Parts: sequence; C-alpha cells; structure tokens
Amino acid sequence: MANYETHEHDVIVVGAGGAGLRAAIEASSQGLSVGLVCKSLLGKAHTVMAEGGIAAALANVDAQDGWETHFKDTMNGGKMLNNWRMAQLHAQEAPDRVRELERWGAVFDRTKEGRILQRAFGGHKWKRLCHVGDRTGLEMIRTLQDRGVHQGINVYMECTISKLLKDGERISGAFGYFREDGRYVLFKTKAVVLATGGVGKIYPVTSNSWEYTADGHALAYEAGADLIDMEFVQFHPTGMVWPPGVRGLLVTEGVRGEGGILRNSKGDRFMWKYLPEATKHEFAADEKEAQEWVSATLEGRKSEARRPPELSTRDNVARAIYTEVKEGRGTEHGGVFLDISYLDADRVKKKLPSMYHQFKDLADVDITAGPMEVGPTCHYIMGGVRVDADTAESLVPGLFAAGECAGGMHGANRLGGNSLSDLVVFGRRAGAGAAEYAKKLGASQPTVHERDIDAAVEELEAPLSRTGGKNPYDVQKKMHEIMSTYVGIFRDEKDMETGIAKLEELKKDIAEVGVAGSKLYNPGWHLCRDLKNMIVAAEAIARSAHSRKESRGAHSRLDYPNTDKEKWGKVNTSCSKDGDKMKLEHTALPTMPDDLRAFFEQKEPAHA
Ligand code: FUM
Repeated sequence: MANYETHEHDVIVVGAGGAGLRAAIEASSQGLSVGLVCKSLLGKAHTVMAEGGIAAALANVDAQDGWETHFKDTMNGGKMLNNWRMAQLHAQEAPDRVRELERWGAVFDRTKEGRILQRAFGGHKWKRLCHVGDRTGLEMIRTLQDRGVHQGINVYMECTISKLLKDGERISGAFGYFREDGRYVLFKTKAVVLATGGVGKIYPVTSNSWEYTADGHALAYEAGADLIDMEFVQFHPTGMVWPPGVRGLLVTEGVRGEGGILRNSKGDRFMWKYLPEATKHEFAADEKEAQEWVSATLEGRKSEARRPPELSTRDNVARAIYTEVKEGRGTEHGGVFLDISYLDADRVKKKLPSMYHQFKDLADVDITAGPMEVGPTCHYIMGGVRVDADTAESLVPGLFAAGECAGGMHGANRLGGNSLSDLVVFGRRAGAGAAEYAKKLGASQPTVHERDIDAAVEELEAPLSRTGGKNPYDVQKKMHEIMSTYVGIFRDEKDMETGIAKLEELKKDIAEVGVAGSKLYNPGWHLCRDLKNMIVAAEAIARSAHSRKESRGAHSRLDYPNTDKEKWGKVNTSCSKDGDKMKLEHTALPTMPDDLRAFFEQKEPAHA
C-alpha cells in the first residue's frame, strides 16, 4: 500500500488560472470547504500570459455595443458551431464579471471620462476589450488571487493530479503528487472542477506555458466524459519567430488593435487579399480609410471609418501569414513584419509595455523604431469537455469543467478577448454548479477505493523502474513532429491518416518511457505522466479533424476547402473512451431558439 497524505474538501478545483480561481471563490462563498490545486505556484497560471484584454459589451467607447452584438460576433467568429446557450450567457454576463473584477480591485485603463477603456480586437464589431495595457491577465489573476486567499480557500501548490477517482458513476476524489518531491496526495471530495487550460505543448511552436499538457482534457476523458470539437485548434497569427529560444511567445493582438500593420518581405500590406468575401464590407477599403480609423482611435473621436484588415478573425490572419511565408514572401526567420513604429513612441510604450520590453530584452528589437517579426503559434483549443451550459457539469456526476478545458463556448474559432471573459463567466458558474451538487450530497461522502489508489501509484511509478525505457523528451519531440506535419494549420485526408497511424505507434513508445533518478525534483518523471495526457488530446484532435470533411474556422482542409452548412454545420464531433479505444461520434448541435436566430437575419441586433 502506498504512502500518501489525505485532505478532504467539499469541492476540489484543479487549476488556479482565471477559471479555477473564480470557481473556487464562488464555491467557497457558499460556505463550502474548497481545495484549489495548482500545478504551478499560485499566481503563475497561464492566464497571466493573456495580454490584450477581456471582452465585455460595456459600450464605454462604442455606445452602439450590447450583449446581442457580442453574442452575434462570437457565434459568427465560431462559425455557428458554438453552443448557443454558452455564447448567450457569456455575452450577457461578461459585463457584470468585469465590473466585479473592478470592485475587487482590478485597475483597468480609463477613458477620459474615467470609465473602463476598451480597445478593438479581431472579429469584434465594436471596441470591446477592457484592458490593463497589455498585462490584463496578470491584473486579473492578482485580483482573483487576493480575493480567493482572503476568503479562506485552501491552496495546494506545485501539485499534479494524475487520476480522478469515482464511486460507481460519481466523483469521489482526485489523486496526485507534489512536484518537488513526488509525495503522493489524495483529495477526498464530492465534486471536482477542472480548470486546467489547454493542450499547446503537443505542438512544437506554442504561446502556451509548460503547464498546458492537456491534463483536464485527459482526466475527464479517462473518467468517462466526452471531448467535443477537438479538431479546432487555434493558431494565433502573431507569435515571436526569433530568436529560437522564444519562438511562439505571444505578440498580443492588442498590437493590431492599436493600429499595427502586417507586411510581407516585399513591403505589401497583404491582409486585404485574404478577407473573406462575406466580411469585406466590414473593413476599411484602402490605406486611407484604415489610417483614418487609427487616427480616430488615437484621438478618441467618432468616425465612420471601418477597421483595418489586420483585425480580421485569427483563423483568417494566421492562414494569410502562413501562406505568405510558404509562397516565399516571408522574412529571414520565417515570419512577416508587424509594424507599430509609425505611432508615437510614448504611446506604444504606454499601451504595449510588455511588447516593448519583450522585443527589446529578448530579440534586441525596438518596436517603436522598427517592425517586429511574427508568425503563427499554437495558442488555444476550442475543443474540450462537453458540459451543461448553465452548470458546467460534464456527463460524469460531480465532475465540472470551465475555461479552456471545457468545449462548446467558442465553436470553430475563438475571438480574442473572449477567453478571459469565458474564464470568469463559466468559472463562476462551475463553482456554483459544483457547490450546489456538493450541498445536495449533504453528509454522504462518496467512497474512495484503495484499489484505485494502488493502480494510480503503480502507473506513476512504472517509468522509474523501467531500465532502458524510451526517453520521454524524444517521445515528445516525435509528437511535435507528427502534430505539426500532419495535423497543423492546413490539413488533408492522406496526411491525417498518416498522422493517426504514427500516433498509434507513439502510444507504444509512451507505454515504454523510462526515466533515471527518483521522484525528487525530476522533470523527466513529470513528463512521463504528461505524455499520457497529451496523447489523448493529440489523438482526439487528429481523429476529429480527419472525420470533419469540410473547412470551418480554425479547421482548414485542402481537400475540402468549403464550409458545409447543411451537414457539418449541424454536428459536433465527440470523442469518448470505449475500453482501450477512442470512440468518435457526430452529435447534433443544440437548437438555437428563434428569438436568438433572428439576430442573424437582421442587420444589427437591437440592444437594451
Ligand atoms: O492577443 C492576445 O492578447 C490574446 C488574447 C486572447 O487570446 O484572448
């Protein structure tokens, strides 16, 4: 029998980014005992890397804005594959969540009149992103963390959960280990909220931090939940491309929101070429109109000018940059130029302080004096755990999910800024859902079975006792090659078939990874466990993408370049565990009620 420490809480939240913290605050505000487990140190979650802002229709800058337009933009951005109810709740509740952050101490940038300032972002019709320079996520985490700690949440830092435990069908606990010394820990609980973020570390170039190894996706899948829409992986158009050590690091869309211009190595402003026919009318017709939009933004004055083409949706801008580079019009390091240096240097430093320092310190580039080099980077997965829109509960009783590891909210493509708002809207809902569920169970704590703990320990320790096993770093490198070569920005049938076959081979390698040393400070050992999560996400992405025979949002197929409204526009892909196999199904999209559907027929929804 293994040695482990035991803690008992009504609700366990796994992940201490925006969604996890907000869920923990909500559940604890209802008088429940809450344990918050973070893989990193508290305050270092990946949310701190979110830069450009949080989307909420406050209408502080553009008075025409309202939740209805935000809802419509989100659905259009997601190519109508979003769970409409999630998109509705998100658009309706985001303003309250932003005001709540402000009440709790977040210091947003201000308009001249002293209201929360909002900036433009791709796919948002109006200036909608509330921001703190380009450090919005950091301010959000600081605020939520202060609130949560003062509220008495129990925090378990540098702890990885490797298995969810069940009593029959329902959740009874979570088992894992502390990363510094490998000691084991059991959390007995009635409900678990997964808020573990994304999967970026399965790709070689990513803006995601080291924690993003698909943990929540895999834990939920192994526990019996469905993963939906996994084919939709967002490549942010602008990551750093140079120097190699920081390749993929995010260059906020806020640069383009402030007027940043994309050009290829020939000096052409190429984005006009790539605007989809259906959205062309929303964008400036030429340089003059685009410049007028920037001037009006700088001066805070009203203008009829339409936004520049660089503010098209991310899927579109990422494909454009990829194509420019592939066709030989890229920069020396395989990117394109993003230029904001034509603006006043002090303004650039004030609005984009992190970008200024990031380029100065890491690439020796002064962005107030010349352009940045940027290219696509894996940034976000739209797919995740299937949840109920109102309560965030998965198909497993007692298991909830919020934020990036939950699916449905963003459909086929997420709009920038809709992630931070998603975190607080659905973090709060997940915390409330878990609290209600736990309260209903009352004093009846579900049983944790010792045999499940033994199995979890055996699985964790296997790589330590395997001499001559596969090197986990080599295996991760292979995964990177497979995912970027066969399931990247552009996809086709044959490539994906090859990719799926190679992932099947890779599973065998993962079963044979071995590592030297002990559980003490051993990152190789951690990677052995992380690979088991990453392969679940990689397989789900590849199989879902292979099955969707159309192009939609972030899923671009060279062999099926069109969007198929009739067939594929009506279904989600869904992956579930069936013995040792992954079962793939296509399930009907929830039907949008007529009053919301009407928004897409009228020119501009009326708002309150
Ligand atoms: O570009 C950015 O600042 C990223 C924001 C987001 O992904 O929401």
